[in-house]
Amino acid sequence: MDVTIDKIGEYEGQSVRIKGWLYNKRSSGKIFFLQIRDGSGIIQAVGVKSQLSPECFEKMQKVVQESSVIVSGRVKKDERSPGGYELSVENFDIIHLSEPYPISPKEHGVDFLMEHRHLWLRSSRQHAIMKIRNTVIRACEDFLRQEGFLRMDTPILTPAACEGTTTLFETDYFDKKAYLSQSGQLYNEANCMAFGKVYSFGPTFRAEKSKTRRHLMEFWMLEPEIAFATIDDLMELEENMIVYMVSRLLELNKADLKSIGRDISKLEAIKAPFPRLCYNDAIKLLRSKGNELPWGEDFGADEESILSLNFDKPVFVHRYPAKCKAFYMKPDSEDPNLSLSVDMLAPEGYGEITGGGQRIEDYEELLKRIEEHKLPKDAYEWYLDLRRYGSVPHSGFGIGIERTITWVCGIEHLRETIPYPRMLTRLYP
Ligand code: 4AD
Ligand code: MG
Repeated sequence: MDVTIDKIGEYEGQSVRIKGWLYNKRSSGKIFFLQIRDGSGIIQAVGVKSQLSPECFEKMQKVVQESSVIVSGRVKKDERSPGGYELSVENFDIIHLSEPYPISPKEHGVDFLMEHRHLWLRSSRQHAIMKIRNTVIRACEDFLRQEGFLRMDTPILTPAACEGTTTLFETDYFDKKAYLSQSGQLYNEANCMAFGKVYSFGPTFRAEKSKTRRHLMEFWMLEPEIAFATIDDLMELEENMIVYMVSRLLELNKADLKSIGRDISKLEAIKAPFPRLCYNDAIKLLRSKGNELPWGEDFGADEESILSLNFDKPVFVHRYPAKCKAFYMKPDSEDPNLSLSVDMLAPEGYGEITGGGQRIEDYEELLKRIEEHKLPKDAYEWYLDLRRYGSVPHSGFGIGIERTITWVCGIEHLRETIPYPRMLTRLYP
């Protein structure tokens, strides 16, 4: 019977067949210990010379790392093995004998691993991170669905900028120009006027000449948008979504998190409510820590890191100066120099993982901002229409999936959180 390793416990005492690859091999002359992986897990298969045909034992001698194999054997409970079970080999076949595999259990440099990303994904650490990525995405989507949101996909080829014109990837669109989407937000705003609560989820693109631990040229963003919601409603929603997502991780991926060395207690501390800090208070806090960023400037990695190290859960920073945020941000009625914007900074120094706010709903005000930002009005006519036909207060945010995974995994760099990272100096593989 063909089974997958993750389900092996259901077949204790039975003979089963596993199709996979050789992860590692040890031998003590008369016995082979083969680590077999099949994508769902890893299991040790034990082949004893005296119990096998000579041809079968020969194949075990010959097989090398990452050869594809089919192993038949009896499932045995074994407390010492990581999955709790091992396989007593009854038959062994090689489907393809691998060439010498470039990635060995010894340490490799990051450049080498990145160059072999298509193979690196087979390693157990990358498996753990990709499984965590899956839970992060699914949990956020499940949460939003439970809250009554409709997923609506937004275009990737667009005629206009959402997040400023300096980071646009431009491409030919027959006799016109098109830009790769920086954010689905503008379309989400239209969609929420049609459906109330919507979200988009897809790849977004920024031609940012930044070579940092937290910048990708192509990253995945999940963006909810809600009609009639204020900035306070938004913070509550974001907080609930993050708490739900972390609880799902603790439920489903504890072993994965532990295997990459994550301190679980840091995630167990993620409970609502999250602290809320206005920009002006954040500046005061920064000053008290010796940071002298001039008032009015957006926070960079340094400032976010200082702020987020102060809290053991994510912190909201809201009401940034209007001049450092995007054109669509609604000014604060109590101080029009401030905007109803809000970022969520992840703890432990990780910094911004979400950005959003309340949008301008007034036609004249939005038109003024489009002109001030020297954006081509024609390309935004449809967006202005939303302020012509039944405009309402509305808010939304975007969560950067890779930055979020970097934080929940507690790892250094976001390059390991996406299967094929697109970075300033990397487009291969
Ligand atoms: O703060 P940003 O630019 O906000 C927007 O794009 C809004 N239009 C979203 C909205 O309101 N619907 O980006 C949102 C998040 C950031 O908080 C960050 O997590 C992530 O996207 N992000 C990046 N992640 C990886 N690499 C980059 N170059 C990123 N730029 C932004
Ligand atoms: Mg931002």
